[in-house]
Amino acid sequence: MQKGGVGEKMLNFLSKVVRFLRKCIFSVLSVGPVPAHVAFIMDGNRRYARQHNLKEGAGHDAGFSALMSMVTYGCELGIKYFTVYAFSIDNFKRRPEEVEYIMNLMLEKIELMRRKDSIVNRYGVRIHFSGNLQLLREPIRDAAKKLMAVTANNSNALLTLCVAYTSTNEIIQAIQKSCEEKWVENQEPGRAGCGPINLVEIEKQMDMGIAPD
Ligand SMILES: *[C@@H]1O[C@H](CO)[C@@H](O)[C@H](O)[C@H]1NC(C)=O
Repeated sequence: MQKGGVGEKMLNFLSKVVRFLRKCIFSVLSVGPVPAHVAFIMDGNRRYARQHNLKEGAGHDAGFSALMSMVTYGCELGIKYFTVYAFSIDNFKRRPEEVEYIMNLMLEKIELMRRKDSIVNRYGVRIHFSGNLQLLREPIRDAAKKLMAVTANNSNALLTLCVAYTSTNEIIQAIQKSCEEKWVENQEPGRAGCGPINLVEIEKQMDMGIAPD
């Protein structure tokens, strides 16, 4: 297809029509109940690449694009909280080449999101990383911290990126912190000890404590 030719004009026109239709559909949908918090599990990237005869890494790239589309549509629908389960601690056990590829891609995408004209900044989305960032290489950890700082004042929505996380690790951390807090509260003589911990106290200490259920 020639650049600037009839084909391209047609495509432009069609994409405008699609965007308009999407707006119409969303304005109808958002009259009904809109979920407060939507979470995505990034799964099937490799399967997607195999099925479409793409290089293995291309699946992860497509996954990121899909995620950005979902966040865009979600924002247009008025959803305030997004969570993405991107890379668990267990994923470090994958083939070294794959881990390396994903880490490089992650760094590239974090840098991309930091830009002023990124979808994240255009839609006013604050980014929060959840997980043990110490397990990441320094450049990625730094980039993650910078991205959180740069988007700190974005207030339309919150996107939590779970990286180097596991739920078991989170539960243990949350119980430990709840216990420590109780311990400090029970300082009077004869009352030392952790004592019973309730669900609300544990939930407050979970990484996900910053977003509604
Ligand atoms: C966020 O807002 C605070 C207070 O207004 C300001 O000091 C800070 O520089 C802002 N941060 C960014 C990244 O814009």
